[in-house]
Amino acid sequence: MHVGIPKEVREQEQRVAATPDTVKRLAGQGHKVTVEAGAGWGAAITDDAFKDAGADIGDKAAAFGAELVFKVAAPTTEEIELLKSGSCLVGMLNPYQNKELVDELAKRGVTTFAMELLPRTTRAQDKDVLSSQANLAGYKAVVEAMAAYSRVLPMMMTAAGTVTPAKLFVVGAGVAGLQAIATARRMGAVVSATDVRPAAREEIASLGAKFVGFIPEDGATSGGYARALTKEEQEEQAKMVADHVKSQDIVVTTALIPGRPAPRIVSKAMVESMKPGSVILDMAVESGGNVEGSKVGKTVETKGGVRILGIPNLPAHLAPATSILYAKNLFNFAKLIIDEESKALAVNKDDDLVVGTLLTEGGAVVHANFQS
Ligand code: NAI
Repeated sequence: MHVGIPKEVREQEQRVAATPDTVKRLAGQGHKVTVEAGAGWGAAITDDAFKDAGADIGDKAAAFGAELVFKVAAPTTEEIELLKSGSCLVGMLNPYQNKELVDELAKRGVTTFAMELLPRTTRAQDKDVLSSQANLAGYKAVVEAMAAYSRVLPMMMTAAGTVTPAKLFVVGAGVAGLQAIATARRMGAVVSATDVRPAAREEIASLGAKFVGFIPEDGATSGGYARALTKEEQEEQAKMVADHVKSQDIVVTTALIPGRPAPRIVSKAMVESMKPGSVILDMAVESGGNVEGSKVGKTVETKGGVRILGIPNLPAHLAPATSILYAKNLFNFAKLIIDEESKALAVNKDDDLVVGTLLTEGGAVVHANFQS
């Protein structure tokens, strides 16, 4: 099998879908790997490092002309034109927000796998790109919020007096939120968190944070994700958040519902209730935002002196680290779709992880979630 690794072209996307380690493993299994020149640079990987691992260094057309193409972000229209009909593409295709692109991929005759759709089962863990990237993003969210905060996180006892620790509130305790809690705790903040899935209460407590809020009895779907709250539940949650937020110094929001706009949880009035110098980081800013007034790629400072950070694509800000995990996720996933003997693409329709991610095949969009 010929595997291609193009350089990512979307704005600020620094990650790469392979590393010298995964290239070496693919080459060791008898596959030919072509890496586009400069593809690893954003992740601090040189062309020579890829070459030493067994890859050929080629141009964009050579990388996209492979039988199996590994990408981080969804391809652009120009990139889709470089894909060969009958080839296979694996990446974070963001299908819910990229419906036209998905149709283009289908028309092009490419078999695509959208890694965000991977069922979150135990067997999926080493292939789970959402978890590997969200984990580091949760860490980075706290680092960024901390840098924007003009006071300190831990309690500081000095001869001149004591500085009290910051109070940090995490909204949404999934993979990113739990890492945000752990990171803020390591920094010495007093941490609280909320979520709507019943399992989250214990997970928050196990990290030494205080659970705040209410959880509807059936707050989680059968897939383990949160469901959208009813209007009454939203009002209930808003009362709790309003009451809590006004005493917080830093708020990190991570709440998402797959396939839907992010739930709006922190209102303008709540932001205005916070003290000057407080910081809010909205990790859901690209999905519509959990915070009223957050803007993609902008720091919004309110009249009351509260800063709202809307940093997009946090995993790309840690590209050398997130690329290692992402590349390993894809390498592990590829084992499911490559026949060991023939080294050819083999789409096993009896495998729930394969079917769960298979988006386009044979000229059509085939995933159950995208049938109209
Ligand atoms: P996510 O990124 O979809 O959402 C982030 C968090 O926001 C979630 O915890 C969600 O419950 C929460 N949320 C949604 N609406 C909310 C609201 N209105 N108020 C407060 N919080 C709200 O979640 P993520 O991190 O992808 O995790 C989703 C599920 O998958 C979790 O149940 C997690 O435990 C599970 N999971 C399972 C894995 C496995 O067993 N292999 C691996 C990773 C995650």
